[in-house]
Amino acid sequence: MKEADVQPKVTLVGAGPGDPDLLTLKAVKALKKAKAVLYDALVNEDILEHAPDAVKLYIGKRKGNHSYTQDEINDLLVSYAKKYGKIVRLKGGDPFVFGRGKEETDYLEHFGIKTAIIPGITSAIAVPASVGIPVTQRRVSESFWVITGTTSSRALSNDVKLAAQSTATVIILMGMSKLSEIAEIYKANNRADMPIAIIQNGTKEEAKQAVGTIATIVHLVKEKQLSSPAIIIIGEVVNGHKSLLTYFNEQFMEDDFIYQNLDIEPITQ
Ligand SMILES: C[S@@+](CC[C@H](N)C(=O)[O-])C[C@H]1O[C@@H](n2cnc3c(N)ncnc32)[C@H](O)[C@@H]1O
Repeated sequence: MKEADVQPKVTLVGAGPGDPDLLTLKAVKALKKAKAVLYDALVNEDILEHAPDAVKLYIGKRKGNHSYTQDEINDLLVSYAKKYGKIVRLKGGDPFVFGRGKEETDYLEHFGIKTAIIPGITSAIAVPASVGIPVTQRRVSESFWVITGTTSSRALSNDVKLAAQSTATVIILMGMSKLSEIAEIYKANNRADMPIAIIQNGTKEEAKQAVGTIATIVHLVKEKQLSSPAIIIIGEVVNGHKSLLTYFNEQFMEDDFIYQNLDIEPITQ
């Protein structure tokens, strides 16, 4: 088909936190119709099976030899939309939660390209939930803050200082390199005993976690060798956490694949 014959449209689709089953039906429908899919590093590649006929392009910023800049990604979206018509831009979690989704739709619209958004299940809520941690809980936590550990200037968001003074559950994304700094802020607010959990690769087979207090967490993370991508959850809600295996045991009792990968026996009751 000639470029002039195609109707360019880019749908930003949230791919959820990692478990490929945590995808919306709307996302599946968009993938089936897509002529091309451009996807991120945090997207589980199993999800691409919903788009068997589409051209697929990995445009993540963290694996392989080439790391795409946001400007390059924006230009690729424009050129693929013009070439293929209906394309899906598949992003980890939800496209509008620290996903630069708005930058991409603004750029595309500037070129007269139609855009649409299909929200996804954000890791900020789903990853804590996968280990039994609710972000709010009656009589325990009345609100939750989702904060970036790394702002555009690479610094820790100032909001962490404000959040540390509140009774809110605090969820920090992209914060692993700032963990010591975060712990110091809580200590300065006399909250060294505050429960904290860190979950790396939540909802995926390779998930890892560390649970402790502000006083112990830096040491625990070193001991367990946790790194990015990980979610940091701070607050009393962490007290109700479960083990990582609970997620897989509860949800995939009959899924042999998961058990083979985790090297554990399914629970039979
Ligand atoms: C650029 S942000 C994107 C967030 C995404 N839009 C969302 O809604 O989940 C990437 C950060 O999200 C967090 N993250 C995403 N998926 C995760 C997962 N499965 N387990 C732990 N953290 C995750 C990590 O903090 C990671 O550094």
